[in-house]
Amino acid sequence: MKKPLQLKIYPDSVLREKSLPVKDFDETVRDLMEGMAEIMYAYQGIGLAAPQVGILQRVIIGDIGEGLISLANPEIIAETGEDLLDEGCLSLPDIQVTVQRRQSIFVRGIDATGKEIERELSGLMARVIQHEIDHLNGVLIIDYASLIEKYQLRNALAELETRCKHPA
Ligand code: NI
Repeated sequence: MKKPLQLKIYPDSVLREKSLPVKDFDETVRDLMEGMAEIMYAYQGIGLAAPQVGILQRVIIGDIGEGLISLANPEIIAETGEDLLDEGCLSLPDIQVTVQRRQSIFVRGIDATGKEIERELSGLMARVIQHEIDHLNGVLIIDYASLIEKYQLRNALAELETRCKHPA
């Protein structure tokens, strides 16, 4: 029986781990992508990375309302431009940080059918992919916070840390 996936919330230590490349694209990877999509849509997110469900594999998904993109071993092979925008994260409820990202990217990876693909993405979808690849390296949006933002977020982060120690 398959174990249902569960969303991991900050400060869960799994969010700080580095994920490993997918070696063989098989049924388990496809199942993981499907399970991640269920969680992303259930929480009304626009992106999700495998470590956010406790799986340390390089698998990400995203959907900004233009169709689901699922990628194993995503790699940015070219990038241009700069863009600043407030970002949230399903693993950091009620937190927003202004993050500078590349405006357009070329990303390569293995899609849900096991085929290697390359996609040119810009704007919000490019941002989602960069955010999710950060998760694969244990990087969170709070790492981009300015000193002022860190100060403003201190109570919200402390609350998440307390909730983790004393789950409701
Ligand atoms: Ni996130």
